Amino acid sequence: MSSRTVIRGGLVVTASDEIHADVLIEDGRVAALAATGTPAAEAFTAERSEMGAPPPEGWGRVIDASGKYVIPGGVDGHTHMEMPFGGTYAADTFETGTRAAAWGGTTTVVDFAIQSVGRSLRSGLDAWHAKAEGNCAIDYAFHMIVSDVNEKTLKEMDLLVEEGVTSFKQFMAYPGVFYSDDGQILRAMQRAAENGGLIMMHAENGIAIDVLVEQALARGETDPRFHGEVRKALLEAEATHRAIRLAQVAGAPLYVVHVSATEAVAELTRARDEGLPVFGETCPQYLFLSTDNLAEPGFEGAKYVCSTPLRPREHQAALWRGLRTNDLQVVSTDHCPFCFSGQKELGRGDFSKIPNGMPGVENRMDLLHQAVVDGHISRRRWIEIACATPARMFGLYPKKGTIAPGADADIVVYDPQAEQVISAETHHMNVDYSAYEGRRITGRVETVLSRGEPVVTEREYTGRKGHGVYTPRATCQYLN
Ligand code: URP
Ligand code: ZN
Ligand code: ZN
Ligand code: ZN
Repeated sequence: MSSRTVIRGGLVVTASDEIHADVLIEDGRVAALAATGTPAAEAFTAERSEMGAPPPEGWGRVIDASGKYVIPGGVDGHTHMEMPFGGTYAADTFETGTRAAAWGGTTTVVDFAIQSVGRSLRSGLDAWHAKAEGNCAIDYAFHMIVSDVNEKTLKEMDLLVEEGVTSFKQFMAYPGVFYSDDGQILRAMQRAAENGGLIMMHAENGIAIDVLVEQALARGETDPRFHGEVRKALLEAEATHRAIRLAQVAGAPLYVVHVSATEAVAELTRARDEGLPVFGETCPQYLFLSTDNLAEPGFEGAKYVCSTPLRPREHQAALWRGLRTNDLQVVSTDHCPFCFSGQKELGRGDFSKIPNGMPGVENRMDLLHQAVVDGHISRRRWIEIACATPARMFGLYPKKGTIAPGADADIVVYDPQAEQVISAETHHMNVDYSAYEGRRITGRVETVLSRGEPVVTEREYTGRKGHGVYTPRATCQYLN
C-alpha cells in the first residue's frame, strides 16, 4: 500500500471555494476534505495520534499548512521544451523545464509537439514523446502544432483526438515555417468541428509583418525594439478577427494563444458578446512587461523578444480587465527560453534573427499571486486562470486543476506572506537571465506534491526525473 498524507490546517483555495480544511491523500489522490478541527478532520490522523503512540510503520506524513494556502498545482497549458526554433533550440529540456515548473508550483504542463512540413502528425508526436518520456518531474500532455494541412493530416487529427491529443495549434504568422493560409486554417477548423478538437491560434498577420520587417531592416532599424514596432497591435487584432470569423464559418470553437494587444482583446470581447465559443489566453510577460523592456539599451531588449510582442504599458489594463470579465480565461507562460549568450545574440544587428520566446514556467504562479496582492484579481480567480480553467479547457479536469475527492493529489502549499526576489541567480530554469530580474514578490511555493509524491519539500527539491507521466486528455470541457 502506498503512502497516506494529510495536509493540515491550511486555507484550501480552489476556483470555487476557500475553506479552512484538512486534506486526506491516499494512493496519490485526494481522498477527502474535512473542515479543520472537526471530528471528521481529526479522524484523518486518528490512527497516528492514538494514545500518543508512534505512527505505525509506513503510515505516511502530515504536512502542517497553518497560515498557508493549499492550492491545486498549476496547469501551464503552453510550454515549448527543447523547441527547435530560430536556428536553435529552446534551452530547457523536459527534465530541466519540468523541474523548474515544479519549483514554481506548476504540476502539469501541456507542451507543443510539432509537425514538420512534409511529415505526418504522428512522426512529430512520436518525437515529442521520445523527448519527454522518463525525463519529467511532473505530469505532462501534448498539443499538436499543425504546419502542413493536407488530406492525410486531417485524417490524423481524428486519430490524435481519440488518443488524447485534443488540441491543435495553427499559425497565421511565420510564413515558410509554421504558417497556414486561410484555406488551410478553415479546413483544420472544419475537421475540429467534427472531431471535437480545439484549434489554438497564433493570431498575427505574418505575411504583412514580413513586409514591415524587410522595410525596417532596409531603413537600418535593426535593434530589438523594432521587433515590437513591426509586429503591430492592429495586425494581431486583424488576425484575431479573421480567426474568429473562420471558426464561426466552420462551426468550431477557437482558443487564441498569447493575446497581448487591447485591440485583440476587443475582438474576443465582441465575439463572446455574440455568444461564440471563443477563448483567449494571455501570459505574464504581457501583464508585467512592456516595450520599455524591449527598448533596454545594449541589446538587452533581446531578452524580451517573443511573439506576439510585448506592447506599450497601456495595453496591460485591457488584459487585466479581460481576465476579470472572463473575456480572457487562461494565463499560460508560452515558456520558450533562449539564453542571452549564444542564442539571443544570433540576432545582433538584425532583430528578425533573435529567437522568439521567453522563459517563465517557474514564475507564473508567483506573478499571479502578486496580482492578487496588488488587487488585479481575486484569490479564487488566480486559481481559476492558472489551474482550473486550463485543466478544463484542455480536457484534464477534475483530475488536474482542483482539490476534490478523486482528483490527482497535485497540491501546492503556498506561503502567502513570504517575500522573495526573482533572479536568474536563484531560479531553476536552464537559461542565463530572468525576464523578471529583481522583481519583489509576496508569496512563495513551500511544498509541492505531484500525485501525492513530494516534489518540493519545504523549499528543497525532493522530486525525480521520470516521476511525471504522460497524461492523455479529453476534449475541451469548457464548452458545456
Ligand atoms: O515567441 C514565442 N511565442 N515563441 C514560441 C512560439 C510561439 O509562437 O508560441
Ligand atoms: Zn483564514
Ligand atoms: Zn505562438
Ligand atoms: Zn508558444
